[in-house]
Amino acid sequence: RAPLVIAVDGPAASGKGTVARALAAHFDLPHLDTGLLYRGVALALLRWGGDPDSEFAALRAAQELNLDSGDPELRSEMVGGIASRISAYPAVRSALLERQQAFAGQPGGAVLDGRDIGTVIAPDARVKLFVTASAEVRAERRLAELEKRGLPAHLPDVLLDIRARDERDSHRAAAPLRQAEDAILLDTSELDIAAAKARAIQLAEAAL
Ligand code: C5P
Repeated sequence: RAPLVIAVDGPAASGKGTVARALAAHFDLPHLDTGLLYRGVALALLRWGGDPDSEFAALRAAQELNLDSGDPELRSEMVGGIASRISAYPAVRSALLERQQAFAGQPGGAVLDGRDIGTVIAPDARVKLFVTASAEVRAERRLAELEKRGLPAHLPDVLLDIRARDERDSHRAAAPLRQAEDAILLDTSELDIAAAKARAIQLAEAAL
C-alpha cells in the first residue's frame, strides 16, 4: 500500500494550516507548510534588496533559499503580499517543486499544505482536502491573529487584502488555487478550531 500522503489546499486564513497540523499529529506524519517556502523567497528578496517585479531576481532568491522557519518576519503581512506576487512566476514555482515533491515522497508519508498540493505537487495523494471559509470570516480570523501579535489593523483593510490575495492566487496562469476534482471540500466558516480539526480527521479517516 502506498505511503499516506495528505494534500491540504485552500485560500489564506481558511484554517488549512491548523487542519494540516492536526492531521499530521493524528496520523503521526511530518508536515510541510509550503507557504513558508514562498514567504522565505519573498523575505530573502526583501533583505537582499532584489526587485519583486523581476522574475529573474525572484528565481535567484528561490534557488538560494535557506529557510529558517522560526523567523517571525516570515509571517508578516508584507512578506505574505510579496510571496503572493513572486509565487505567480513559473520559474520560482519550478525551483521549489523538487523540495516539495521530495518531502511528499518520504517513505513514511507526509502532510503538505498550500495552494497547489493536490493539483500539481502531489496529484496522487491518497487524501486531498480543500479547506475554505467565507472572505469575511477569514478576514476576522486574520485580524484576530494580527491583534494577538500586537499588530492592530482595520477589518475593511484586511478584507481587501484577503480578496486581492484570493484574486491573484486564483487567476494566475501557473498553478492557480483551485480545488482538485478528487478533493473533499471542508468549509470552516461556521466551525471553531476544535470542530474544524475534528471534522478534518473524520473526513480523512473516511477517505482512507
Ligand atoms: O499560505 P500562505 O499565506 O503562507 O502563502 C503565502 C503565498 O504563497 C500565497 O498567497 C500564495 O500566493 C503562495 N503559495 C503558493 N503555493 C503554495 C503555497 C503558497 O503559490 N503551495
